[in-house]
Amino acid sequence: MDIDETLATTRAVRRRLDPSRPVPIELIRDCVELAVQAPAGSNVARTRFVVVREPALRRGLAELYSEVYRGTYVGSAGYIGNVRRDDPAAARAQERTARSADALERALHEVDTIVLACLDGTRLDGVSAMASASMLGGVLPAMWSFMLAARARGLGTCWTTMHLAKEREAAELLGIPFDEVQQVCLTPLAFTVGDRFGRARRPAVDEVVHWDRWDPGLPRAGRLAGIVAEPGS
Ligand SMILES: Cc1cc2nc3c(=O)[nH]c(=O)nc-3n(C[C@H](O)[C@H](O)[C@H](O)COP(=O)(O)O)c2cc1C
Repeated sequence: MDIDETLATTRAVRRRLDPSRPVPIELIRDCVELAVQAPAGSNVARTRFVVVREPALRRGLAELYSEVYRGTYVGSAGYIGNVRRDDPAAARAQERTARSADALERALHEVDTIVLACLDGTRLDGVSAMASASMLGGVLPAMWSFMLAARARGLGTCWTTMHLAKEREAAELLGIPFDEVQQVCLTPLAFTVGDRFGRARRPAVDEVVHWDRWDPGLPRAGRLAGIVAEPGS
């Protein structure tokens, strides 16, 4: 698959995950091999992948995800809460995302592989902006590379963070040393039903590029009030 096509069509796959086709370990290894080529702060590779295949562990993770999704985060209402009421097309897209997120919550326990990306070395609770950007920046590009590599091999992924409201429970389930290893992302990994995915509706280039100086006339993403709190708290 052409690189531009891969970049433009690596969607959050939720409804089109095919649980009936097991994911070969070799494909997962290939994706990780490419992922670790991503940049690494201070040239120290801090990304660790926990690839969960054992059914009881997958079920446990899916249950944690569901508890947060249904309970704390009140399911798709969280997505719908982000709707821009002044933009009907955006509102419709958000509604679709909400329904799709509901579908993932129901399907997560069915896929045969769940992958967690972790930062090995520290927790970021209360650290400086520079430290958190540097440390998270050591994991996010690698995980996105993993997802792009997966897409190029017919596999679907969906970046999720919701289970992190129960990160400690997930750490206990999987034996992850919570004090030194921070989970950053959880994704299902499965072959997709069909391989044609489209581009997403995203802002135009001229809406997001500030040339030379910050342009106060460009649209803003919306202020995140209370982002430091746990969802629903
Ligand atoms: C940081 C981050 C956290 C996300 N968390 C979740 C999540 O917990 N559950 C979920 O279903 N999708 C999650 N998503 C996926 C987004 O909802 C998805 O990217 C968005 O709806 C746009 O869809 P698209 O990527 O297919 O264009 C997350 C994405 C990002 C980047």
